[in-house]
Amino acid sequence: MTVETEKLSTLLHENRTFPPSESFRAQANFQDENIYQRALDDPETYWAEQAGELSWFKPFEIVCSWQPPHAKWFIEGKLNAAYNCVDRHTETWRKNKAAIIWEGEPGDQRVITYDMLRREVDKAAHMLKSLGVKKGDRVTIYLPMIPELPVAMLACAKIGAVHSIVFGGFSAKSLRERIIDADSKILITADAGWRRGKQIPLKANADIAVEETPIEQVVVVSRVGAESNITMKDGRDAYWHELIKQSPTTPFEPEQMDSEDILFLLYTSGTTGKPKGIVHTTAGYLTGANTSMRTVFDLKDSDIFFCTADIGWITGHTYIVYGPLSAGATVVMYEGSPDYPGRDRFWEMVDHYGVTILYTAPTSIRTFMKWGPQYLEQHDLSSLRLLGTVGEPINPEAWMWYHEHIGKKRCPIVDTWWQTETGCAMIAPLPGIVETKPGSATRAVPGIEIDIVDEQGNSVDAKDGGYLVIKKPWPSMLRTVWGDDERFQKTYFGQFKDTYLPGDGAHRDEQGYIWILGRIDDVINVSGHRIGTAEVESALVAHPAVAEAAVIGRSDAIKGQAITAFVSVREGARTDDALIAELKQSVVEKIGAMARPEEIIFSAELPKTRSAKIMRRLLRDIAEGRVLGDTTTLADPTVVEELKAQYKDTE
Ligand code: PRX
Repeated sequence: MTVETEKLSTLLHENRTFPPSESFRAQANFQDENIYQRALDDPETYWAEQAGELSWFKPFEIVCSWQPPHAKWFIEGKLNAAYNCVDRHTETWRKNKAAIIWEGEPGDQRVITYDMLRREVDKAAHMLKSLGVKKGDRVTIYLPMIPELPVAMLACAKIGAVHSIVFGGFSAKSLRERIIDADSKILITADAGWRRGKQIPLKANADIAVEETPIEQVVVVSRVGAESNITMKDGRDAYWHELIKQSPTTPFEPEQMDSEDILFLLYTSGTTGKPKGIVHTTAGYLTGANTSMRTVFDLKDSDIFFCTADIGWITGHTYIVYGPLSAGATVVMYEGSPDYPGRDRFWEMVDHYGVTILYTAPTSIRTFMKWGPQYLEQHDLSSLRLLGTVGEPINPEAWMWYHEHIGKKRCPIVDTWWQTETGCAMIAPLPGIVETKPGSATRAVPGIEIDIVDEQGNSVDAKDGGYLVIKKPWPSMLRTVWGDDERFQKTYFGQFKDTYLPGDGAHRDEQGYIWILGRIDDVINVSGHRIGTAEVESALVAHPAVAEAAVIGRSDAIKGQAITAFVSVREGARTDDALIAELKQSVVEKIGAMARPEEIIFSAELPKTRSAKIMRRLLRDIAEGRVLGDTTTLADPTVVEELKAQYKDTE
């Protein structure tokens, strides 16, 4: 395993600490340290109490059944996620509270109250039903960040259909793979989306994606009004607004779902080329999402919660839709880029809407740092009271900048470690209790038991790096990989008995604080997005000029990691700039723009061990300009010298 010792020693020198201020602590939802011990001593009672915050049609009878690696939570309970996120609030004073404050990139705005949201969701649920969607059917959604996206998700949840959202930045090919794997008969998309003033052609991608798939119907939201630029296929395609017009305005009766019925699938990258459809179920996932709003985010009814992620990723699922809405919060949802039309777009929104909690990614913070604080100074950020980060390890300098320039030294920062698979934040401070340290996600949240272990599964000493593991089941854990339970068992429970392996390296300091070191498998984290090296490699190898490719993540000041591809070409193929451009484009077309390699290095051979394994570690050393370590296992040592020379040429 590769625990990066260099990073480890830098982190160990970080000893600044930030206790919660007295005023924050005094108003916090959780102020008593005992919550940790209580949850540790009796996790089932703790989670049953948390699940009690949801509305149930029928109460659950058994809290958890654990037959490793399969867990079931809240057995015999019946509930509906959309009812919990929408309808139940309309029965209280929150009826006319803003649920979603939405801003489009061109500046258009919509404020949707809980009552309005209920009506929209119900109309969409009627629409889906009239299209033949039934409980358990998979609905693929490929939309920009517009209100129809949460409406469509919640409409699926209301019917009991399983949504599978594909991020709008994914290519037609990626969308197609996910449609086929999920076996969806219906796709909801838009004519196009806005990004930096340009139209992203979603419908055109969708047209390519759905050919020869099980898709029978495509519902198209008119977002940019590009009717003349898109083709609508008779009998297959219909506009959302036209279908909705025919929907009854009567309330839609929520389907009474079993706790363990699937709520959604969300595809994520793993070590092999094929993305995994992560399966989340209704009660456990919703309990996790809802609990973390109250614990980690200290949510109050007066908060305005702004999570800058896209709903196409798990962060948006949990912290734009299911977490905040199940808790009756007001969320700010933004369609576009943070630098459009100016670099102060987020700060204008924070000021304008009085955002109190901001949740963003280290890569964004590093970009704001690069742009400089002048964009912040133009706006009043005094409404902010709590800041959060997610997606990758945050370097202490970025943490300090977040603290000083955005939080004005006043707001606690919750660094939240979690994954698509975990459903909600697992390691993060409770901001009224835990003293924070820049760069550390601190400790596991109540009800979660973690450890750091060596290859044999034994706990490692403080300061030693090891594998991060989660020792007990938790409500919002993935239940399986869609259609591939064997892969689920092997990937997450194959290494240590009955213990979940997230695939991250970590270490604990002397005070027990957790420091996440990054992935230990062949997964690259570019700007907080997980990309499997195998996916990029197969996209490259599909090009007729390529014989072999090896892809690694090298460290990058803004993105965290950037993709470097080492490529050996077939005999006779030219190795020029035109081929580099073609190869990069081919990755964009096959996966999406976020997977575009930063650089492509041609090499006659790739460094391999004598057993023919590509030495990625060595490639990373070359890309990061480090002195090369031991190359004695290398089959042909001259390869390295050549590669080093090639790499220099590209700089
Ligand atoms: O490596 C960890 C990193 O992101 C991975 C999960 O990626 P994904 O499933 O796409 O979900 C991202 C958003 C929840 C993890 O295995 N990661 C996520 N949050 C952090 C992090 N690494 C360090 N610190 C974090 N706060």
